[in-house]
Amino acid sequence: MRVSDAITGRQSIRAFLSERPVDDEQIEALLTIAGRAPSGSNIQPWHVYIVRGDTKHRITEACTTRYLSGDEGEYEYHYYPREWRQPYIGRRRQTGFGLYGLLGIERQDVAAVQGYRAQNYAFFGAPVGLFFTIDRDMEQGSWLDYGMFLQSFMLAAREAGLESCAQAAFCSYYDSVMPILNAPDEQMLVCGMSLGYADPDALVNTYRTERLDAREFMTVLN
Ligand SMILES: Cc1cc2nc3c(=O)[nH]c(=O)nc-3n(C[C@H](O)[C@H](O)[C@H](O)COP(=O)(O)O)c2cc1C
Repeated sequence: MRVSDAITGRQSIRAFLSERPVDDEQIEALLTIAGRAPSGSNIQPWHVYIVRGDTKHRITEACTTRYLSGDEGEYEYHYYPREWRQPYIGRRRQTGFGLYGLLGIERQDVAAVQGYRAQNYAFFGAPVGLFFTIDRDMEQGSWLDYGMFLQSFMLAAREAGLESCAQAAFCSYYDSVMPILNAPDEQMLVCGMSLGYADPDALVNTYRTERLDAREFMTVLN
């Protein structure tokens, strides 16, 4: 697979073949590749937890229960801007409306939207979940490094025929997730991720998000 095809062909997958397993050796190989991502002073700030079986089930139970009870949880770090403004709110809406439109979910149908979002916590049916953590004394530079690591992992997964969905949704319930992972207090949750083989028949997986034309965000200075 060409690098450009891996990048442009990646999309967040939100329906997986739950019966098709992904074994530890496969994940270890992908993490070995992703671990080649660059990081300032080569500090490699990542920790990765792989969950299946009972552990995964307990995370699903804990987060789904909280989500459906209306508990919005709280973030340990702010992933999204505290004040949404244009053009970002517009892009966010376009993405959300497009997805719900495809699925035939009315925005006003709170139960349907909630039911759909709750699937985050069931890892969209994926056979394996991953949680990415960072030591909380790391600075912004390490978060930059982390993004490169995550993208490298998702692209390496594609070469192996696997797809993924990065998930900040789990961060709302970090205080439920981290104890189940037995993660030490010095670590904080960066994001979760669903990993597996895409369900080729799922409508949701046909959704392609739009991107800006590069000329809209590039500036050339001669
Ligand atoms: C760090 C990170 C966290 C994300 N969290 C979620 C999430 O919790 N749930 C979800 O359905 N998608 C999540 N996404 C997927 C984004 O919505 C998606 O990447 C974006 O809309 C662009 O679509 P694409 O990935 O299909 O290209 C996340 C993506 C990233 C990079």
